Amino acid sequence: MLTVRNNGLLIHIYRNIFDGKSVRSLAAFLLLVLTALQQPAWADAPDGAKLFAQNCAVCHGETGSGGIGVPLSLPSFQATVSNRYLAATIRDGRPGRVMPAFAQLSDAEIAAIVGYIRSWYRGPVPHYGDAPVAGNPAHGKQLFAAHCAMCHGVDGQGGRGTGVTFSRPRGLPIMPPALNNAGFLASAPDAMIRAVLIHGRAGTPMVSFVKAGLSRRDVDDLVAYVRSFQSGAQTVAGSVAGLKPDLIVQSPYDLKTTIKNLTQAINSDNFFVGRSQPVEYGLTTPDKANPHQIIVYFCDVPFLNKALAIDPRVGLFLPCRITVVEHAGKVMLMAVNPEVVSRLFNNGELNELCKEMHDRYLAIMQEATL
Ligand code: HEC
Ligand code: HEC
Repeated sequence: MLTVRNNGLLIHIYRNIFDGKSVRSLAAFLLLVLTALQQPAWADAPDGAKLFAQNCAVCHGETGSGGIGVPLSLPSFQATVSNRYLAATIRDGRPGRVMPAFAQLSDAEIAAIVGYIRSWYRGPVPHYGDAPVAGNPAHGKQLFAAHCAMCHGVDGQGGRGTGVTFSRPRGLPIMPPALNNAGFLASAPDAMIRAVLIHGRAGTPMVSFVKAGLSRRDVDDLVAYVRSFQSGAQTVAGSVAGLKPDLIVQSPYDLKTTIKNLTQAINSDNFFVGRSQPVEYGLTTPDKANPHQIIVYFCDVPFLNKALAIDPRVGLFLPCRITVVEHAGKVMLMAVNPEVVSRLFNNGELNELCKEMHDRYLAIMQEATL
């Protein structure tokens, strides 16, 4: 039922936003993403197809046609990227963007994945040397502002959103990747960037800028400008180190009063309160569900839309929820720390929203227990 590759996920999430089933299917989906990102190393003779299915298909699609990730199977893409670029991209990912770093895969496993990606392609595979392209970055900057910034962002920060999914900019079939990115700049030699500008990527919004009228010298100036991003490139989105995985606040009130206070606090923070139900709802018969563990769901639709536009995977953690548990005479409020959630996605933009969410969760929990 759930696939990441199409808009079905979003629609599914919207439809089921206050429907108990979504909690379980979203939890199952989250598990899928997490296992996809944390596959153990395979001992010998790595199987590229299997590794791709486990680590990449969830975002790039089973056949590389794209999803949360950009398409990898397009002949125009394959014709401009070297195997070294593919391997380095897999190894280092794109810090601050959605593409994770696959530090846990061995060189042999990465090579097997690259081999599998190439099985979709029949043409010649390019090789690039490391020789820098000489150009005038100041002129490149002017050209970039005129020809590139509308898609790749003023500072090369890339389009908002992801791959070929709902969240990409309207009117663009594929989200423009970040160019001022440490992972991109470390993997792409000047000669490759030049080749992309000369040939473009047929079938994507990235056209050949030589056909579009720029001279070879202009192209070199652009390459020199893109390379100059290196100094200011963002490094990592952030690590989970030092962040608590969950937020826990003890309540001085009994369970019923705590839930009433919580509902009021949620309302006064401009959230829409959804249903409350036992944690075990749907897992056992209603009479057997533990009445001392209650989840309260809530939602802020404009906020939700903003977050989904940045990254549809945010849907995994929606609607917002706080769990109230009564145990051994103590009543506790608990929630997953949204800041930890955002780090999983290696998306710096999401970090900000998740920080805001963290602060709102905490404020609500504190108000409910005053
Ligand atoms: C969580 C989603 C996700 C996963 C998992 C993922 N990717 Fe990506 N990948 C992306 C996104 C999004 C981009 C676009 C980068 C950007 O936004 O700047 C990308 C970019 C890439 C690129 C660069 C494409 C280009 O235009 O040059 C390659 C190559 C790539 N991914 C390969 C892989 C491989 C191989 C795997 C598995 C080992 C993988 N990715 C796993 C989301 C993902
Ligand atoms: C209409 C939007 C658009 C414009 C204008 C545009 N690009 Fe792109 N560019 C894209 C998209 C989309 C991709 C990803 C294509 C793909 O999926 O292979 C891309 C890919 C690239 C890549 C390869 C990045 C990677 O991760 O593989 C480079 C380099 C690049 N563009 C540079 C430029 C430069 C420099 C300019 C200006 C001369 C420019 N682009 C203009 C949309 C655009």
